[in-house]
Amino acid sequence: MAKFDLIIRGGRVATAADTFDCDVAIRDGRIAALGDDLGTADEIVDARGRLVLPAGIDSHVHLAQPGAPGQVMADDFESGTRSAAFGGNGTVLPFCLQRRGESLRAALEAYHGKAAGQCYVDTAFHLIVTDPTEAVLGQELPALVADGYTSFKVFMTYDGLALSDRQMLEVMQVGRETGAIVMIHAENDDAIRFLTDRLERLGHTAPRFHATSRPIPVEREATHRAIALSEIVDGRIMIVHVSNRPAMEEIRRARSRGLPVHAETCPQYLVLTEADLEGIGMEGAKAVCSPPPRDLASQEACWEGLRTGVFDVFSSDHCPFRYDDPAGKLAPRGRSSFRWVPNGIPGIAARLPILFSEGVAKGRIDLNRFVALTATNHAKIYGLYPRKGTIAVGCDADIAIWDTDRPTRITHDLLHDACDYTPYEGIEVSAWPVSTLVRGHFVVRDGQLVGRKGHGAHVARAVAPN
Ligand code: URP
Ligand code: ZN
Ligand code: ZN
Ligand code: ZN
Repeated sequence: MAKFDLIIRGGRVATAADTFDCDVAIRDGRIAALGDDLGTADEIVDARGRLVLPAGIDSHVHLAQPGAPGQVMADDFESGTRSAAFGGNGTVLPFCLQRRGESLRAALEAYHGKAAGQCYVDTAFHLIVTDPTEAVLGQELPALVADGYTSFKVFMTYDGLALSDRQMLEVMQVGRETGAIVMIHAENDDAIRFLTDRLERLGHTAPRFHATSRPIPVEREATHRAIALSEIVDGRIMIVHVSNRPAMEEIRRARSRGLPVHAETCPQYLVLTEADLEGIGMEGAKAVCSPPPRDLASQEACWEGLRTGVFDVFSSDHCPFRYDDPAGKLAPRGRSSFRWVPNGIPGIAARLPILFSEGVAKGRIDLNRFVALTATNHAKIYGLYPRKGTIAVGCDADIAIWDTDRPTRITHDLLHDACDYTPYEGIEVSAWPVSTLVRGHFVVRDGQLVGRKGHGAHVARAVAPN
C-alpha cells in the first residue's frame, strides 16, 4: 500500500510566511508531509512550473440570500461554490440572514437546508443580525458562538436590515462577551436617504447616481462611528468592503490606538470606478454595489492599504443579481430609479486572478502577502486556523495549483456562476488557478469540474484570539 494518497510534486509552494520548492504529500484529506523524496503515493501530480498555494478563503460571499421582494440572488450554494472552486477557493463564508421577527436558529436551519448536499467547497456561516431581541442577544447568539458560529454581521444602512447605534452596541457587547467578531457594513443611512430623495426630485435616477447618493463622507462617518461604538464596549470588529482613503484613515487611527479593528477591501475597489456605473440605458446597473466604486486615487489608496496592512483580508463580496432578468438588476422598479437597483455584484471566481495579476505580477504586493490577504488572515481572524489557510503538516489539504503564465481575458463563461455577466468582463489577467483541491480531493482539475457536489462540508469555527 502506498504511503500517501496523493503527492503534488515539483511545484513552488508559498505560504503567508515563506516560499519554497518542495513536494506536498496528502493522506486522509490532510497535508501529511512536505519535502523531497517523500515516498510512494496512489497518485502523483506533476506541478513543475506551477505555484502551489493554500486554496483561497473568501470570507464575504452572499449565496441564496433573498434580496428585496421580487429580487433573487443568482447563485445558490451549488453554483456559488462551483464558481468559487473555479476561482481557486477551498472555503467560503456566506451569510445566514435573520429576517426581522425570525429566530436566528430558524434562519440558520433554513440556510443549512439550502446548503446541504449542494456545496463543492467548504463553508461556514456568518450570522447577520437584523433583529437583536433580548432572546437573540441573551440566549441565541451566545449558544451559537459555542456551536462554532463565531462572527456576526450588522448593517448600518438598508431597509429592513439596518440597526440603530444602540442595537449595534448590544450586538458588539455580545461579541465582546463571547469572543465573536462583529462585521460592519458602514454607511450613514440618513445621509443616503437624504441624498437619494434629493437626487430623485431632480430627476437624477440613472444607475450612475447610485454613486452620487453614497459619497465618501457617508462611508467615512459610519466607519468612524462604528469604531467609536466598538471602543465603548471594547469589542473586536471588521469593517467590510472599505473603498477609500478617508475611511482607511479612520481604521489606521483606531489601530494606532491599539483597538482591535480589522478591515477588508474587495476587487471592485481596485479595478472599477464610478465611471463603470455609466453606460447606455441601464448597463451601469451591472456595477451597482455599496459602497460604490470610487476613482483612480481611491484605487491607489486601497492598494496602499493592502500593502501596508490597513487591510487584513481581501474578499469578493460576491452578491450576484442577474442583469437581463426582471428579478435581478433590471427589477421593474430599478428602471425607475437607482434606489431600487439591487446592490451587489458577482466576483467569487474573479477575486484571486485579479489580485494576483494586478498585485503580485505587477509588483504591488508580494506572493506571501497575497496568501495572507486571500487565505491565511481569513482563517486566523474567523477561527479556521490552523486547520485552514496555510500549507503545513496537519492542515486540511485545501490547495490551489496556479499557472502563472496564462494570459487570460476575463469573460463571464470562465467563471461558472449562475449570474449572466461579470463586472470584470474584458480585464486581462496573467495567471489562473487551474486546479483546486478541498481536503485532498480535486474539485477542479486542469480547468475541469471533477468534484462531487456535496463534498463541501460546513466547518465549525473557533473564537479567534485577539
Ligand atoms: O452592495 C453590496 N455590497 N451588496 C452586498 C451586501 C453587502 O452590503 O455586503
Ligand atoms: Zn493509499
Ligand atoms: Zn455590506
Ligand atoms: Zn456583502
